Amino acid sequence: MKFDTPAIRNPIDRLKVVGKATTRIDGPLKTSGAAPYAYEQHDAAPGATYGYIVGAAIAKGRIASIDVAPARSAPGVLGVITAQNAGTLGVGAFYVAKALAGPEVDHYHQAVAIVVAETFEQARAAAQLVRVRYAPAKGAFDLAAASRLAPVKPSKPNPALASSIGDFDAAFAKAAVTLDAAYTTPDHSHAMMEPHATIAAWDGDKLTLWSAIQIVGWGLRDIAKILGVPKENVRIVAPYIGGGFGGKGSILSDAVLAAVAAKQLGRPVKVTLQRSLMFNNTTHRAATMQRIRIGAGKDGRITAIGHESWSGNLGERPETATAPTRLLYAGAHRMTRLKVAHLDLPEASAMRAPGETPGMMALEIAMDEMAEKLQLDPVAFRILNDTQVDPEAPHKPYSRRQLVECLRTGAERFGWEQRPARPGTRRDGRWLIGIGVASAIRGAPVIKSAARVTLDRKGVVTVETDMTDIGTGSYTILAQTAAEMLGVGLDQVVVRLGDSRFPEGAGSGGQFGAASSTAGVYAACVKLRAMVAERLRLVGADIEFADGRVRTGGNSRPLTDAVAAGELSAEDAMEYGDLAQRYAQQTFAAHFVEVGVDAATGEIRLRRMLAVCAAGRIINPMAARSQIIGGMTMGAGAALMEELVVDKRRGFFVNHDLAGYEVPVHADIPHQEVIFLDEVDPTVGPLKAKGVGELGISGVPAAIANAVYNATGIRVRDYPVTLDKLL
Ligand code: MOS
Repeated sequence: MKFDTPAIRNPIDRLKVVGKATTRIDGPLKTSGAAPYAYEQHDAAPGATYGYIVGAAIAKGRIASIDVAPARSAPGVLGVITAQNAGTLGVGAFYVAKALAGPEVDHYHQAVAIVVAETFEQARAAAQLVRVRYAPAKGAFDLAAASRLAPVKPSKPNPALASSIGDFDAAFAKAAVTLDAAYTTPDHSHAMMEPHATIAAWDGDKLTLWSAIQIVGWGLRDIAKILGVPKENVRIVAPYIGGGFGGKGSILSDAVLAAVAAKQLGRPVKVTLQRSLMFNNTTHRAATMQRIRIGAGKDGRITAIGHESWSGNLGERPETATAPTRLLYAGAHRMTRLKVAHLDLPEASAMRAPGETPGMMALEIAMDEMAEKLQLDPVAFRILNDTQVDPEAPHKPYSRRQLVECLRTGAERFGWEQRPARPGTRRDGRWLIGIGVASAIRGAPVIKSAARVTLDRKGVVTVETDMTDIGTGSYTILAQTAAEMLGVGLDQVVVRLGDSRFPEGAGSGGQFGAASSTAGVYAACVKLRAMVAERLRLVGADIEFADGRVRTGGNSRPLTDAVAAGELSAEDAMEYGDLAQRYAQQTFAAHFVEVGVDAATGEIRLRRMLAVCAAGRIINPMAARSQIIGGMTMGAGAALMEELVVDKRRGFFVNHDLAGYEVPVHADIPHQEVIFLDEVDPTVGPLKAKGVGELGISGVPAAIANAVYNATGIRVRDYPVTLDKLL
């Protein structure tokens, strides 16, 4: 169905199920271990063999020779696949690095071989026997050095790369108060809990992949492109996924090599990436070098804002760090530029709130610095520069934008007025205390998403879509949507996800999953309701589905009467036409943080965190809160800990395990409070809801850095903010 905006009152607005804090319907399966993750689909592919990937030991160069004979004759080994016998492999459309090296090596730990054996231990042992001689070549591994060369030329026009409104240079030169500052953010790893994993099985020319993937449709497209097989011949099954953060957006080496090996050996093959391979074999968030210039009048109004950012990649994809600057604040004269330096590091791609996260790490410190120069309160400075239209396209209003309300509510709830106006002046014993704020913005796009809804003779409603649940709560919000639409209890709804045999849903990514996939279920339910009404011969605009009954006027019939003669099934998708051209659709938040900094050692401890979020209707406040506090925790990691350390001579991420790549643990995280503004956004879809998966991280690192500045008077513009930078 086509979405009409603004959405009129619809059955969702009854809010009997939608909008209520609801525990996960998949929770018992997960906590009891009964929910199978990709590597655990033991029953699905009986007789599966084990593949173990060997990663390249150089970052750039050629494989001079590869000797697989000792591995091939090791106990239990069934086969060894390398570029010499793998056949021709293409590359994907989302992730573009080649899954298998040879003869060229494009990045460190790119797969050079997969060894397949009867048991995992045999495959692992034999993998150590693969002998590779390399002819290394000189590579580019240093972003700062590479950014002194000409940027990578895009192969096709990319509107993300640059924007220019008015005359930035002239306005900046004329501005009464100016800031010109440089910020750097390091490479980050997704470091999700479940490693990349796939079981591949062929039946003739039909391939099934049980894989850990966020967007099944992208996976189908990419595996078909890589293997050169029709998409229709591939099935992807991904009912449960243990985190993704953008790192499982599509198909990677585990799936490609499992499929190739399974074909050659005529047996199912299961592959998981060993943790120590993940960091360099797959993708990461690119480091950035950013320059921000802001000019304002003495009244504090921004007149000129400019943001330039370099990131590196082996392809042409930029880290879109300027994205928030294009949208967040008013200002007549504007300029943004993204430049990509060629680097021979592993592929850089999407990681949680790509663009917004590193962009706001810089922009929201710059706003703090600018407020200080203007002698304005940082909250007041942000409010003063609010805009209700897209500042690059003033004909385009925000569908809803309650950033000011987020800032005001947060300031009041957090006790912002207690913030020491002068940095480094509050102490609590050995701790210097500081408070910081940052705004957050993150896109809320909606995309076409389909679903099938079936009502059986017992009154059980089954929802099917290839939408995934990567730990976010998709199962539950889709069940809530169907229960609301059909007037049944949650316990009457079964949700089946993550199978390409189901109608194609949005998938999990880009903060589009929740709003889009619930809208698809809504559309299918609208169709099913019409079928039920027809069977029951009930007509009327006031038809109501509630408490297992269908009512109109004085007529009321049990829902199950409609299926006495056989079950009913409806499939539909929601489509949005040119909606995105008419409205700027974004989510907003204000983050407040209190830190303590040890006056002697520089140790930084988070003491309190608050997020006030505006994201339309919140379908499941419990799951949404979990999303936000997870994001805030990741933001704390980005602020204080996370950094992939690049060996700039040999070209790899040195700290490639969870001991060396530091992420926050419980002891690092203080009380986290989350407030959702009571907001409904009727322009984004029938649920009037927006996603929150990536809003929680956006802005948080800068709020922490600003709090550290407030505590110490030391401005760190180079993440992570570690204690050595304070001493
Ligand atoms: Mo998210 S990084 O857009 O999966």
